[in-house]
Amino acid sequence: MKKLMLAACVAISAGIGISASYEAVAAENNPAIVHRQSTYSVVAGHMGSLKSILFLGGTGNVSYHANAIKAAWENMGDAFPEGSDKGETRAKAEIWTDNATFKEKGKNAYAATLKLVEAADGGDKAAQIEAFKALGGACKACHENFRAK
Ligand code: HEC
Repeated sequence: MKKLMLAACVAISAGIGISASYEAVAAENNPAIVHRQSTYSVVAGHMGSLKSILFLGGTGNVSYHANAIKAAWENMGDAFPEGSDKGETRAKAEIWTDNATFKEKGKNAYAATLKLVEAADGGDKAAQIEAFKALGGACKACHENFRAK
């Protein structure tokens, strides 16, 4: 798990940090926090799998991973309800004080994911790499302002 997340970080070379994820999740009981952190970890895992396929010559199905990320975003649920800034979380207060910007970052990541799905279906590897990098940039753009170190 940690390895996969590390792979995603390296791939995007965008400084997506590695959290002490399982330990934190195990100690946390707020369902919104546990669900969102687990879902982000799933997404990061798929990014790691994509890295192996797009950059390391690994085998695998780009379309599967791209669609899995899309499905993860679509099933985030009410991920940041009021009050879920307290606990084992790296969510910054700005998520609630500047919610419009936060939502915009989320929309950008979703749009980048749709492009990755499209590139995956198109079968052109260069386009897939470009879309992967753009999505990595969208992750970073949100983390920079809204996720604590
Ligand atoms: C709209 C903002 C936003 C976008 C876009 C976003 N993230 Fe995050 N991410 C967060 C926030 C906020 C947290 C902290 C959640 C918490 O600790 O409660 C987080 C946490 C994480 C974590 C740590 C999970 C854990 O177990 O604690 C990983 C890994 C992660 N994101 C990966 C990604 C990847 C990969 C992408 C892009 C494919 C992405 N994120 C896109 C806001 C975002």
